[in-house]
Order: sequence, then C-alpha cells, then structure tokens
Amino acid sequence: MPPIELKKLSENVGVEVLGVDVDRLLNDSELPSACLEALEQNGVLLFRDLHLDDATQATFCKKLGKLVQFPLYPDPNVMEISFDPDNPNAEYFASNDYWHIDGFMDEIPAKASIMSAHVVTDEGGETEFASTYVAYDSLSGAEKERYTDLQVVHSFETVQRLTYSNPTPEQLAEWDRRGSRVHPLVWVHKSGRRSLVFGSAASHIVGMDVDEGRALLKDLEQRATTPDRVLSHTWSVGEMVIWDNTGLVHRARPFDRSKPRRMHRSTLVGEESIK
Ligand SMILES: [Fe+2]
Repeated sequence: MPPIELKKLSENVGVEVLGVDVDRLLNDSELPSACLEALEQNGVLLFRDLHLDDATQATFCKKLGKLVQFPLYPDPNVMEISFDPDNPNAEYFASNDYWHIDGFMDEIPAKASIMSAHVVTDEGGETEFASTYVAYDSLSGAEKERYTDLQVVHSFETVQRLTYSNPTPEQLAEWDRRGSRVHPLVWVHKSGRRSLVFGSAASHIVGMDVDEGRALLKDLEQRATTPDRVLSHTWSVGEMVIWDNTGLVHRARPFDRSKPRRMHRSTLVGEESIK
C-alpha cells in the first residue's frame, strides 16, 4: 500500500486523507500508525464517503488504541450524539456548542475522538476545531514565561451554567457530584510540544483574583479561535473525522434541534495526563 496522501484543509489545522475506502481502512496494516502520525502533525483527519456502521467504525478504531466504553448505548464502543429525546445524554450535548476538549474532567483526557456523520442538517451543525499548540506558539515570550506555572480550575458546573443559567437544586447537586479538577494552563507534552489548556470548563486561575483569571482565560480562548485559526467542517453523511483531543479545542455550531442530526462518536482512551 502507498503511504497516505493528505490534502490540507486550513492554514493551521486539518487534512483530508485521500484514497482510503472501507476495504483499505480495515485491511491496510500500515494505515493505523500512519493515521496516528498524521493526527499528531495535523490535528484533524477527514475521510469522505466511508458510510461506516458502528461495528466497522469500532473495528477500525480499536486498531488506533483502546476505546472508552459508553454502556448506555447499544454498541458501547460508539456514543450517539443527537438531541433525540431517547438519547440518554441529550441533556448534556447543548454544552458541545462551546469550545472544549472532550473528557476535561478526567485526570487523563481522551487521546482522540472519531466521529461519523449519520444524519446531518441542511443548515448549521458544523464542527469547528482550533489548535491549542498554535495558541501556545503564538504567545509572546513574556506571556510564555508568565503562564508557565499557572494552574486552572475546571468544573462541570462552569460548562453547564452556559446552557442552564437558572439551575434546579437537582442539577446543581449533579454538577457538584461531577466535581472539578485543576490542570496547568500550559501542557508540556511528552513529545516536548506545548499547548494551552482552556475552554468552556475553565473557571478561574488558582491564586489569582477570580475575575482577572476569567478575563485572562477568555482572552486566550478568543485569540486562539479567531476565524483565521479555525477549521470549520460542514458535514456530509458518510464522512468520518478523527481529531487529536490533546492539542485542539472544538465546538459544534448551532442548528435547529427540532430536526434530526446524528453523529456516532468513538473515543480513544487517553495516554498522557496534563502536566
Ligand atoms: Fe466534544
């Protein structure tokens, strides 16, 4: 098999992987490592026209690494992201509209996410990606120095308050149960690369005035996600996208939630804590 052929999707993040059909996806033994390498370099991989069912998606994803289990779904390797009333997590998907990393509350966040489009909307519902490596690299030298030792408190409540501004006591209790976590602002990866850790769960900075810390986090997010730094992907049915959850933030764009939109996501278990 030839090495994978890549086509750039935007200046800072994302490539389309060309020449991979379902047969090659399942049978090219060199493809998984080539994909993981391309993912590290490019952040997002797009495959068009695959139309994978859940079992096939899981078979391929297991070649990339261990999969997070979602026991509430028929195939626990695959979570459906939709606002269908019978979706057990529908209540929490509204927060996907804000910049985030998946598994921000985990000690070791997910390594990567793999998502296939099953039903898409005519308008809206794009997924946007921005590199947190570029976010770090674009800081001034003085900023890099100042941020080196900063620690950020992330919490489930911070995310959910963006959607539910007047929570019920039950919601507050559930959010509280899911807790909070402190991560460094600058993630020094095993590879030696550095990225910024921010997003909708970031509440405040340890040891800094709360409002001042929030303003700093907001400023970093805004600078990292200006349109020129964002890959906005408009989905077609049958596409599969893999994103590096350790070096990106992502979000969904709004759409008419009375219309169906169904994305099937698998998640690679994380291998590296944020430090
Ligand atoms: Fe997400």
